[in-house]
Amino acid sequence: MKEGVGEKSYAKNSFYQKTVLSKAKPFIEETIVQLYCKTFPQCLTIADLGCSSGPNSLFIISEILKAINAVCPKLGRSPPEFQVFLNDLPENDFNTVFKSTPHFYEKFTSDNGQEFGPCFVAGVPGSFYNRLFPTKTLDFVHSSCGLHWLSQVPQGIDNNKGNVYLARTSPSNVYEAYSEQFNRDFSVFLSMRSKEMIVGGCMVITVIGRRNLDLPSKDYRYYLEVFSKTLRDMVSEGLIEEAKLNSFNLPYYTPSIKEVQTIIQSEGSFVLDRVETFDNDWDTSEDYVNRDFVHDKIKSGELVAKGLRAVVEHIFVSHFGDSALEDLFCRYAKDVGEILAKERPQTTTLVICMTKN
Ligand SMILES: C[S@@+](CC[C@H](N)C(=O)[O-])C[C@H]1O[C@@H](n2cnc3c(N)ncnc32)[C@H](O)[C@@H]1O
Repeated sequence: MKEGVGEKSYAKNSFYQKTVLSKAKPFIEETIVQLYCKTFPQCLTIADLGCSSGPNSLFIISEILKAINAVCPKLGRSPPEFQVFLNDLPENDFNTVFKSTPHFYEKFTSDNGQEFGPCFVAGVPGSFYNRLFPTKTLDFVHSSCGLHWLSQVPQGIDNNKGNVYLARTSPSNVYEAYSEQFNRDFSVFLSMRSKEMIVGGCMVITVIGRRNLDLPSKDYRYYLEVFSKTLRDMVSEGLIEEAKLNSFNLPYYTPSIKEVQTIIQSEGSFVLDRVETFDNDWDTSEDYVNRDFVHDKIKSGELVAKGLRAVVEHIFVSHFGDSALEDLFCRYAKDVGEILAKERPQTTTLVICMTKN
């Protein structure tokens, strides 16, 4: 993710992910309150995996703490202490996260009062596809918009030419390779967390996914297909090398509900309590009342392009260099704007709630 708090940073361009967090919030709150009421730990230990940097990093943690605060008086319980671990890859901008902790602690006290807590926040650098925490130390694990990122680009997809991800024109082995990579990664993720969580501990994961097994490539409106089209246009104008595009694929996969259910069942460490789904517009700030297209295609196209750029800029630059970067995202903004001026494409989000066996 793009570091810092500048105009192009993830911190300033993560509205889409904030919408996902807000929509998943009721399920997260319900799960943690139920967990608290079952176990009444003296210290509630919470991990947020793939926290990134910016306002989203501590948003859901604040909401979780408020939910526990609201329930304690009803139960006649004095509130627990909280240990909060924020995890992301070592390259993540933890400095920006840490700089936001004084404000978080102030808000924590003003939201919840002096008697509540205390709460201790710590950063944990490392991949969530590895062990991150000691055995049986976590009560609750949350991860939003992180697990559709794979540990690596799947092997054997050199024939996915002209596309950066699965597309209508991708050969079938490409779909299989992506699906298998997700299967391996998600299984490893579950197995790592199963060692770190207490029995009866809960996990809520939010990923961009699909309701059914249909390939995302069947949906031509899919935003990475538009990104591939923008790149192909630049190849045809000689602005990007064709070989560079042909060898570029994103380590990203949007699983179906069925795939997630099957993996959780066959890995065996967790009981799947529920899967909820909801759809988000590409431009989550747009008010679609009485319309099925955006009001201002330039503004909406730019907003979507800035959101994607904040997420993929580092991956893109490490493969292509930075000479085409500005042009690419200007063109992508225009291409997206043209689609949003005519129709209302959406992405599906899965909210997966599990309990550790
Ligand atoms: C789109 S951001 C979502 C951030 C935040 N959860 C939110 O909702 O705004 C995805 C985050 O997952 C992190 N991530 C991806 N793969 C990871 C891995 N293997 N281990 C830990 N974090 C990872 C990325 O670095 C990034 O910060």
